[in-house]
Amino acid sequence: MEKEMGLRIIGTGHAAPKKVVTNDDLSKLVDTSDEWIRERTGIERRHFAEEETNLDMAYAASADALLHAGIQKEDISLCIVATFSPDMQVPSQACLLQQRLGLNRDIPCFDINAACSGFLYGLQIAHALLTQSGGQYALVVGSEIISHRLNMEDRGTCILFGDGAGAAVVKLEEGYPFYGMMGADGDDKILICGQEDSENPYVQMDGQAVFKFAVSIIPKCINDVLEHTGLTAEDIDYFVCHQANRRIIEYVAKKMKQPLDKFYMNLQEYGNTSAASIPIVLSEMDDKGMFTPGKKAICVGFGAGFTWGAALLQW
Ligand code: ACO
Repeated sequence: MEKEMGLRIIGTGHAAPKKVVTNDDLSKLVDTSDEWIRERTGIERRHFAEEETNLDMAYAASADALLHAGIQKEDISLCIVATFSPDMQVPSQACLLQQRLGLNRDIPCFDINAACSGFLYGLQIAHALLTQSGGQYALVVGSEIISHRLNMEDRGTCILFGDGAGAAVVKLEEGYPFYGMMGADGDDKILICGQEDSENPYVQMDGQAVFKFAVSIIPKCINDVLEHTGLTAEDIDYFVCHQANRRIIEYVAKKMKQPLDKFYMNLQEYGNTSAASIPIVLSEMDDKGMFTPGKKAICVGFGAGFTWGAALLQW
Protein backbone atom coordinates (compact mmCIF):
# COMPACT_ATOMS: atom_id res chain seq x y z
CA MET A 1 0.00 0.00 0.00
CA GLU A 2 1.28 3.48 -0.84
CA LYS A 3 2.35 5.40 2.28
CA GLU A 4 0.73 8.78 2.85
CA MET A 5 3.12 11.67 2.41
CA GLY A 6 2.94 14.36 5.08
CA LEU A 7 4.41 17.83 5.22
CA ARG A 8 7.25 18.74 7.55
CA ILE A 9 8.58 22.21 8.28
CA ILE A 10 12.37 21.92 8.03
CA GLY A 11 13.39 25.59 8.28
CA THR A 12 11.83 28.86 9.35
CA GLY A 13 12.72 32.54 9.30
CA HIS A 14 11.15 35.88 10.06
CA ALA A 15 11.77 39.57 9.60
CA ALA A 16 10.23 42.83 10.74
CA PRO A 17 10.83 46.48 9.88
CA LYS A 18 13.30 48.44 12.01
CA LYS A 19 10.83 51.04 13.21
CA VAL A 20 9.04 50.13 16.43
CA VAL A 21 5.80 51.97 17.26
CA THR A 22 4.66 51.76 20.87
CA ASN A 23 1.16 52.20 22.24
CA ASP A 24 2.32 55.52 23.69
CA ASP A 25 3.40 56.63 20.20
CA LEU A 26 -0.12 55.89 18.92
CA SER A 27 -1.73 57.71 21.82
CA LYS A 28 -0.16 60.88 20.38
CA LEU A 29 -2.11 60.33 17.15
CA VAL A 30 -5.50 59.06 18.33
CA ASP A 31 -7.54 59.17 21.54
CA THR A 32 -6.24 55.96 23.10
CA SER A 33 -3.82 54.83 25.79
CA ASP A 34 -1.22 52.17 26.46
CA GLU A 35 -3.44 50.83 29.23
CA TRP A 36 -6.53 50.48 26.96
CA ILE A 37 -4.60 48.76 24.18
CA ARG A 38 -2.80 46.33 26.51
CA GLU A 39 -5.96 45.48 28.40
CA ARG A 40 -8.21 44.98 25.35
CA THR A 41 -5.69 43.38 23.00
CA GLY A 42 -2.41 42.45 24.73
CA ILE A 43 -0.48 44.44 22.12
CA GLU A 44 2.41 46.56 23.42
CA ARG A 45 4.22 47.58 20.25
CA ARG A 46 4.36 46.80 16.55
CA HIS A 47 6.77 47.39 13.64
CA PHE A 48 5.91 49.81 10.83
CA ALA A 49 7.79 49.76 7.53
CA GLU A 50 9.44 53.00 6.46
CA GLU A 51 12.19 51.98 4.05
CA GLU A 52 11.41 48.27 3.84
CA THR A 53 9.17 46.80 1.15
CA ASN A 54 7.01 43.70 1.42
CA LEU A 55 9.61 41.97 -0.80
CA ASP A 56 12.53 43.04 1.43
CA MET A 57 10.90 41.36 4.41
CA ALA A 58 9.77 38.28 2.45
CA TYR A 59 13.33 37.92 1.15
CA ALA A 60 14.96 38.27 4.59
CA ALA A 61 12.57 35.74 6.16
CA SER A 62 12.99 33.29 3.26
CA ALA A 63 16.79 33.52 3.17
CA ASP A 64 16.78 32.75 6.91
CA ALA A 65 14.38 29.82 6.42
CA LEU A 66 16.54 28.36 3.63
CA LEU A 67 19.64 28.67 5.82
CA HIS A 68 17.91 26.86 8.69
CA ALA A 69 16.56 24.18 6.34
CA GLY A 70 20.07 23.43 5.14
CA ILE A 71 19.02 22.87 1.55
CA GLN A 72 20.05 24.64 -1.65
CA LYS A 73 17.75 27.20 -3.23
CA GLU A 74 17.80 25.03 -6.37
CA ASP A 75 15.97 22.31 -4.38
CA ILE A 76 12.84 24.47 -4.03
CA SER A 77 10.17 23.42 -6.51
CA LEU A 78 7.32 25.73 -5.47
CA CYS A 79 7.11 29.24 -4.02
CA ILE A 80 3.92 30.65 -2.50
CA VAL A 81 3.54 34.06 -0.88
CA ALA A 82 0.43 34.79 1.19
CA THR A 83 -0.30 38.50 1.34
CA PHE A 84 -3.07 41.05 0.98
CA SER A 85 -0.57 43.93 0.83
CA PRO A 86 1.79 43.18 -2.09
CA ASP A 87 4.20 45.82 -3.38
CA MET A 88 2.43 45.67 -6.76
CA GLN A 89 -0.45 43.81 -8.36
CA VAL A 90 1.76 42.12 -10.94
CA PRO A 91 4.24 40.56 -10.94
CA SER A 92 3.32 38.65 -7.82
CA GLN A 93 5.44 38.89 -4.68
CA ALA A 94 6.28 35.23 -5.26
CA CYS A 95 7.78 35.94 -8.71
CA LEU A 96 9.72 38.90 -7.33
CA LEU A 97 10.95 36.68 -4.51
CA GLN A 98 11.90 33.94 -6.96
CA GLN A 99 14.05 36.44 -8.82
CA ARG A 100 15.69 37.93 -5.70
CA LEU A 101 16.44 34.56 -4.12
CA GLY A 102 17.62 33.08 -7.42
CA LEU A 103 15.18 30.16 -7.31
CA ASN A 104 14.88 27.87 -10.31
CA ARG A 105 13.22 29.50 -13.32
CA ASP A 106 10.81 26.72 -14.16
CA ILE A 107 8.90 26.37 -10.89
CA PRO A 108 5.38 27.62 -10.03
CA CYS A 109 5.45 30.90 -8.06
CA PHE A 110 2.25 32.69 -7.11
CA ASP A 111 0.56 34.78 -4.42
CA ILE A 112 -2.56 33.89 -2.51
CA ASN A 113 -4.86 36.25 -0.65
CA ALA A 114 -6.78 34.61 2.17
CA ALA A 115 -6.03 37.51 4.56
CA CYS A 116 -4.87 36.25 7.97
CA SER A 117 -5.50 32.60 7.02
CA GLY A 118 -3.15 32.90 4.03
CA PHE A 119 -0.18 30.98 5.43
CA LEU A 120 -2.38 28.01 6.34
CA TYR A 121 -3.98 28.04 2.90
CA GLY A 122 -0.39 28.15 1.55
CA LEU A 123 0.72 25.07 3.50
CA GLN A 124 -2.23 23.07 2.22
CA ILE A 125 -1.76 24.18 -1.38
CA ALA A 126 1.94 23.28 -1.06
CA HIS A 127 1.05 19.83 0.25
CA ALA A 128 -1.38 19.24 -2.62
CA LEU A 129 0.93 20.53 -5.35
CA LEU A 130 4.04 18.74 -4.08
CA THR A 131 2.02 15.53 -3.83
CA GLN A 132 0.76 15.98 -7.37
CA SER A 133 4.06 17.03 -8.95
CA GLY A 134 6.44 14.76 -7.08
CA GLY A 135 8.46 17.80 -5.91
CA GLN A 136 10.06 17.63 -2.49
CA TYR A 137 10.51 21.15 -1.12
CA ALA A 138 8.39 24.29 -1.14
CA LEU A 139 8.86 27.79 0.24
CA VAL A 140 5.71 29.16 1.90
CA VAL A 141 5.84 32.79 3.02
CA GLY A 142 3.46 35.24 4.71
CA SER A 143 4.48 38.87 4.26
CA GLU A 144 2.53 42.05 4.95
CA ILE A 145 2.90 45.81 5.09
CA ILE A 146 -0.40 46.72 6.67
CA SER A 147 0.69 50.04 8.17
CA HIS A 148 0.36 51.71 4.75
CA ARG A 149 -3.28 50.56 4.69
CA LEU A 150 -4.24 51.95 8.10
CA ASN A 151 -6.29 55.06 8.73
CA MET A 152 -4.17 56.65 11.45
CA GLU A 153 -7.23 58.55 12.63
CA ASP A 154 -9.26 55.40 13.31
CA ARG A 155 -8.44 54.19 16.83
CA GLY A 156 -10.50 51.05 16.30
CA THR A 157 -8.04 49.69 13.70
CA CYS A 158 -4.72 51.59 13.72
CA ILE A 159 -3.70 50.15 17.09
CA LEU A 160 -4.18 46.53 16.04
CA PHE A 161 -1.92 45.88 13.07
CA GLY A 162 1.78 45.72 12.27
CA ASP A 163 4.19 44.74 9.49
CA GLY A 164 6.41 41.69 9.14
CA ALA A 165 7.15 38.47 7.31
CA GLY A 166 7.57 34.81 8.20
CA ALA A 167 8.72 31.95 5.97
CA ALA A 168 8.87 28.18 6.12
CA VAL A 169 10.68 25.65 3.97
CA VAL A 170 8.49 22.56 3.88
CA LYS A 171 9.35 19.04 2.80
CA LEU A 172 6.98 16.40 1.53
CA GLU A 173 7.93 13.40 3.63
CA GLU A 174 6.64 10.03 4.68
CA GLY A 175 5.99 9.50 8.37
CA TYR A 176 5.04 13.05 9.25
CA PRO A 177 1.30 13.40 9.73
CA PHE A 178 -0.21 16.42 8.08
CA TYR A 179 -3.86 17.32 8.06
CA GLY A 180 -5.21 20.65 6.94
CA MET A 181 -8.62 22.21 6.60
CA MET A 182 -9.71 25.56 5.23
CA GLY A 183 -12.90 27.43 4.53
CA ALA A 184 -14.50 30.73 3.69
CA ASP A 185 -17.81 32.47 4.21
CA GLY A 186 -18.27 35.48 1.91
CA ASP A 187 -18.44 38.78 3.80
CA ASP A 188 -18.08 42.20 2.21
CA LYS A 189 -18.87 44.40 5.19
CA ILE A 190 -17.41 43.29 8.52
CA LEU A 191 -13.72 43.38 7.61
CA ILE A 192 -12.65 45.05 4.37
CA CYS A 193 -9.83 46.99 2.74
CA GLY A 194 -10.25 48.52 -0.73
CA GLN A 195 -7.65 49.11 -3.45
CA GLU A 196 -4.99 51.68 -2.57
CA ASP A 197 -6.39 54.28 -4.99
CA SER A 198 -10.06 53.59 -4.17
CA GLU A 199 -12.48 55.56 -2.00
CA ASN A 200 -11.86 53.14 0.91
CA PRO A 201 -8.16 52.30 0.82
CA TYR A 202 -7.91 51.54 4.54
CA VAL A 203 -8.67 48.53 6.73
CA GLN A 204 -12.20 48.92 8.08
CA MET A 205 -13.65 46.54 10.60
CA ASP A 206 -16.49 45.85 12.96
CA GLY A 207 -14.20 44.72 15.80
CA GLN A 208 -16.86 43.10 17.92
CA ALA A 209 -18.27 41.07 15.02
CA VAL A 210 -14.76 39.85 14.14
CA PHE A 211 -14.13 38.98 17.79
CA LYS A 212 -17.34 36.90 17.95
CA PHE A 213 -16.47 35.14 14.72
CA ALA A 214 -12.93 34.36 15.93
CA VAL A 215 -13.94 32.82 19.24
CA SER A 216 -16.42 30.53 17.51
CA ILE A 217 -14.35 29.46 14.48
CA ILE A 218 -11.00 28.78 16.21
CA PRO A 219 -12.25 26.05 18.60
CA LYS A 220 -14.30 24.65 15.71
CA CYS A 221 -11.18 24.38 13.51
CA ILE A 222 -9.13 22.79 16.31
CA ASN A 223 -11.88 20.25 17.00
CA ASP A 224 -12.15 19.46 13.29
CA VAL A 225 -8.41 18.67 13.15
CA LEU A 226 -8.62 16.55 16.31
CA GLU A 227 -11.63 14.65 15.01
CA HIS A 228 -10.02 13.91 11.63
CA THR A 229 -6.71 12.82 13.10
CA GLY A 230 -8.06 10.86 16.05
CA LEU A 231 -5.94 12.92 18.45
CA THR A 232 -7.04 14.64 21.63
CA ALA A 233 -6.17 18.17 22.73
CA GLU A 234 -3.85 16.58 25.32
CA ASP A 235 -1.82 14.96 22.48
CA ILE A 236 -1.04 18.41 21.08
CA ASP A 237 2.02 20.23 22.42
CA TYR A 238 1.26 23.68 21.00
CA PHE A 239 -1.69 25.58 19.59
CA VAL A 240 -0.36 28.26 17.25
CA CYS A 241 -3.15 30.78 16.81
CA HIS A 242 -3.31 33.79 14.55
CA GLN A 243 -2.04 36.69 16.68
CA ALA A 244 -4.94 39.14 16.65
CA ASN A 245 -5.93 39.65 20.25
CA ARG A 246 -4.73 38.10 23.54
CA ARG A 247 -8.32 37.88 24.79
CA ILE A 248 -9.32 35.75 21.79
CA ILE A 249 -6.49 33.30 22.51
CA GLU A 250 -7.28 33.21 26.23
CA TYR A 251 -10.91 32.45 25.41
CA VAL A 252 -9.88 29.58 23.10
CA ALA A 253 -7.54 28.08 25.73
CA LYS A 254 -10.36 28.13 28.26
CA LYS A 255 -12.89 26.68 25.82
CA MET A 256 -10.48 23.88 24.85
CA LYS A 257 -9.66 23.31 28.55
CA GLN A 258 -5.96 23.61 27.72
CA PRO A 259 -3.24 25.48 29.64
CA LEU A 260 -2.47 28.91 28.22
CA ASP A 261 1.24 28.11 28.04
CA LYS A 262 0.50 25.75 25.12
CA PHE A 263 -0.53 28.92 23.20
CA TYR A 264 2.61 30.82 22.25
CA MET A 265 1.96 34.54 21.85
CA ASN A 266 4.06 37.31 20.36
CA LEU A 267 1.29 39.77 19.49
CA GLN A 268 2.65 42.02 22.23
CA GLU A 269 5.68 42.62 20.00
CA TYR A 270 4.18 42.65 16.48
CA GLY A 271 0.44 43.31 16.71
CA ASN A 272 -1.60 41.55 14.05
CA THR A 273 0.57 40.93 10.97
CA SER A 274 -2.15 39.03 9.08
CA ALA A 275 -0.67 36.30 6.85
CA ALA A 276 2.74 36.77 8.48
CA SER A 277 1.51 36.17 12.00
CA ILE A 278 1.57 32.36 12.17
CA PRO A 279 4.93 31.88 10.37
CA ILE A 280 6.53 34.55 12.58
CA VAL A 281 5.34 32.60 15.65
CA LEU A 282 6.64 29.32 14.20
CA SER A 283 10.00 30.91 13.47
CA GLU A 284 10.33 32.39 16.98
CA MET A 285 9.38 29.05 18.57
CA ASP A 286 11.88 27.31 16.30
CA ASP A 287 14.62 29.77 17.33
CA LYS A 288 13.86 28.94 20.96
CA GLY A 289 14.31 25.21 20.28
CA MET A 290 10.69 24.40 21.08
CA PHE A 291 10.19 22.02 18.14
CA THR A 292 12.13 18.97 19.28
CA PRO A 293 11.44 15.76 17.31
CA GLY A 294 7.94 14.41 17.81
CA LYS A 295 6.37 17.70 18.93
CA LYS A 296 2.92 18.30 17.49
CA ALA A 297 1.26 21.66 16.83
CA ILE A 298 -2.12 22.68 15.53
CA CYS A 299 -1.91 26.03 13.73
CA VAL A 300 -5.17 27.91 13.32
CA GLY A 301 -6.03 31.17 11.63
CA PHE A 302 -9.01 33.33 10.72
CA GLY A 303 -9.27 36.50 8.73
CA ALA A 304 -11.08 38.76 6.32
CA GLY A 305 -13.31 36.97 3.89
CA PHE A 306 -14.15 35.53 6.34
CA THR A 307 -11.57 32.84 5.86
CA TRP A 308 -10.25 30.22 8.23
CA GLY A 309 -7.75 27.41 8.19
CA ALA A 310 -5.98 24.96 10.43
CA ALA A 311 -3.21 22.42 10.10
CA LEU A 312 -1.65 19.69 12.20
CA LEU A 313 2.13 19.66 11.98
CA GLN A 314 4.64 17.31 13.52
CA TRP A 315 8.38 17.82 13.97
N1 ACO B 1 -8.60 53.29 22.52
C1 ACO B 1 -9.55 53.69 23.39
N2 ACO B 1 -10.84 53.42 23.23
C2 ACO B 1 -11.20 52.72 22.13
C3 ACO B 1 -10.28 52.28 21.18
C4 ACO B 1 -8.94 52.59 21.39
N3 ACO B 1 -7.95 52.22 20.55
N4 ACO B 1 -10.94 51.61 20.21
C5 ACO B 1 -12.23 51.63 20.54
N5 ACO B 1 -12.39 52.30 21.71
C6 ACO B 1 -13.61 52.56 22.44
C7 ACO B 1 -14.86 52.46 21.60
O1 ACO B 1 -15.09 53.66 20.91
C8 ACO B 1 -15.90 52.16 22.65
O2 ACO B 1 -16.26 53.38 23.26
P1 ACO B 1 -17.78 53.65 23.71
O3 ACO B 1 -18.08 52.57 24.72
O4 ACO B 1 -17.70 55.01 24.26
O5 ACO B 1 -18.56 53.51 22.45
C9 ACO B 1 -15.15 51.34 23.69
O6 ACO B 1 -13.75 51.58 23.45
C10 ACO B 1 -15.40 49.86 23.57
O7 ACO B 1 -15.29 49.50 22.20
P2 ACO B 1 -15.44 48.00 21.69
O8 ACO B 1 -15.37 47.98 20.22
O9 ACO B 1 -16.63 47.41 22.39
O10 ACO B 1 -14.12 47.36 22.33
P3 ACO B 1 -13.71 45.86 22.37
O11 ACO B 1 -13.51 45.42 23.74
O12 ACO B 1 -14.59 45.03 21.46
O13 ACO B 1 -12.26 45.90 21.69
C11 ACO B 1 -11.21 45.40 19.61
C12 ACO B 1 -12.12 46.35 20.36
C13 ACO B 1 -9.85 45.41 20.29
C14 ACO B 1 -11.08 45.89 18.18
C15 ACO B 1 -11.80 43.98 19.67
O14 ACO B 1 -13.15 44.01 19.28
C16 ACO B 1 -11.08 43.01 18.77
O15 ACO B 1 -9.92 42.69 19.00
N6 ACO B 1 -11.77 42.46 17.75
C17 ACO B 1 -11.15 41.51 16.86
C18 ACO B 1 -10.39 42.24 15.83
C19 ACO B 1 -9.52 41.35 15.00
O16 ACO B 1 -9.13 40.28 15.43
N7 ACO B 1 -9.20 41.81 13.77
C20 ACO B 1 -8.30 41.13 12.94
C21 ACO B 1 -8.98 40.20 12.02
S1 ACO B 1 -7.88 39.38 11.05
C22 ACO B 1 -7.72 40.06 9.49
O17 ACO B 1 -7.91 39.38 8.52
C23 ACO B 1 -7.37 41.45 9.30
